[in-house]
Amino acid sequence: MSNKSKSCGKAGLRFHIRTFGCQMNMHDSEKIAGVLTEAGYCESSGSDDADVIVLNTCSIREKAEQKFFSELGRLGKAKEKNPRLKIAVAGCIARQRGKDLFRRFPYVDFVFGPDNIDNIYPWIMPEPAAAQEATSQSEGRATAIEYNPEYSTKKLPVKREGQVRAWVSIMYGCDNFCAYCVVPYTRGRERSRPAEDICDEIKSLADGGFREVTLLGQNVNSYGKKLSGESCDFPGLLYRIHDIDGIERIRFVTSHPRDFSEKLIKAMRDLPKVCEHLHLPLQSGSDKILQLMNRGYTYEDYKRKIDDLRNNINNIAITTDIIVGFPGESDEDFQRTADALDEIGFDGIFAFKYSRRPGTKALELPGHLDERVKSQRLSMVLKLQEAVTSRKNKSLEGGVYEVLVEGKSATDGDRLTGRTRTNKIVNFYGERALIGSIVRVKILEAKQHSLYGEAIQNHS
Ligand code: 5AD
Ligand code: SF4
Repeated sequence: MSNKSKSCGKAGLRFHIRTFGCQMNMHDSEKIAGVLTEAGYCESSGSDDADVIVLNTCSIREKAEQKFFSELGRLGKAKEKNPRLKIAVAGCIARQRGKDLFRRFPYVDFVFGPDNIDNIYPWIMPEPAAAQEATSQSEGRATAIEYNPEYSTKKLPVKREGQVRAWVSIMYGCDNFCAYCVVPYTRGRERSRPAEDICDEIKSLADGGFREVTLLGQNVNSYGKKLSGESCDFPGLLYRIHDIDGIERIRFVTSHPRDFSEKLIKAMRDLPKVCEHLHLPLQSGSDKILQLMNRGYTYEDYKRKIDDLRNNINNIAITTDIIVGFPGESDEDFQRTADALDEIGFDGIFAFKYSRRPGTKALELPGHLDERVKSQRLSMVLKLQEAVTSRKNKSLEGGVYEVLVEGKSATDGDRLTGRTRTNKIVNFYGERALIGSIVRVKILEAKQHSLYGEAIQNHS
């Protein structure tokens, strides 16, 4: 704290960001950090020595909301201790609740949505005219939560977490309106970034030493649908990114099974930099539930795409999202999901209990289930998947895989950590100098969430 102004840019002030939710939110936090850094702030080590605290929120499930509300509740005390502390609420809850947050939490200073990250500038450095125009102000507090159709053409500074792997937004919003999902209401209509802007960003990442990019969008398979002029579709975008020197690995999330095309399977097969991993949310194994969810495919459609993928791409790892206890899910419907997990054999799953979300279609459906039933079903799918994941991971023991080294292991500082092309975490002993390179690692032991191995030879 003593050398605060010396180490802290022109403003001598510090910020702290707490992120809830998905990779999209984590990347938004990197943009929020980018804007604050450009405004002369620097990052604090925690919330205690911060002058500005931003909570970047998620409203996808009730649990994420509750976590945020209890954390925001605790910040009241911090504000009492330091009345000059500024508190901002960002992200999906900000967009949904807007000014209401001021009523319940009078110590919140600024509320801004996912499309309004650059509104931090006028808030943080108020020039009266600009601030009035860009934010809606009342009693010293401000909101900026409007949907912005032009957001996809904005170029924001990004302060990235890592040095090896980077997230790159390729599109914003979602038009799918799955019956359970709040995202189309919080992140607005689907908008694709111009391919030119995406490629420019990735070129500068490559120049800065990054080796891997993960392309982000709620439904990357519909990339480009609304772009005019000389635009491309998602497979076309992959071909363009593949040409960028210095980038060695390309990943993307999230894909929608309905829009997952043969053309994309071909691109994944033919482009060596595109990794052999796909996250393809199934949600349920029951056609009745898939229809109620408004997913636009049957289990058979989904299974056919998985077979195509596996036939075309050797050893591809496939992960998925599952919701249990959707309204109307009978024992038989649930059994179909369990059977699907068994039949497909995913490398990993994210499983959730259905959570009621305001404004969504599923709220009005009959047959909402008891919390107890949802919890039982969740434990059952997790247990079932644990056995599949263990079996899959065990089968990797003795094999040699390319690992892109990301840094020191968070759990064991003596080891390095990285990922295989199939997105499995691998820990092994090695020199710091290997960070950023691709190393061949022999897998010695497979655990549930990560693999342990030894380096065979430095390969790039
Ligand atoms: N309840 C439970 N899970 C949800 N998801 C989205 N909305 C809900 C909800 N209301 C899950 C889906 C989605 C993942 C990101 O979150 O499985 O794919
Ligand atoms: Fe939500 Fe469905 Fe859009 Fe995914 S595709 S963000 S689950 S509405």
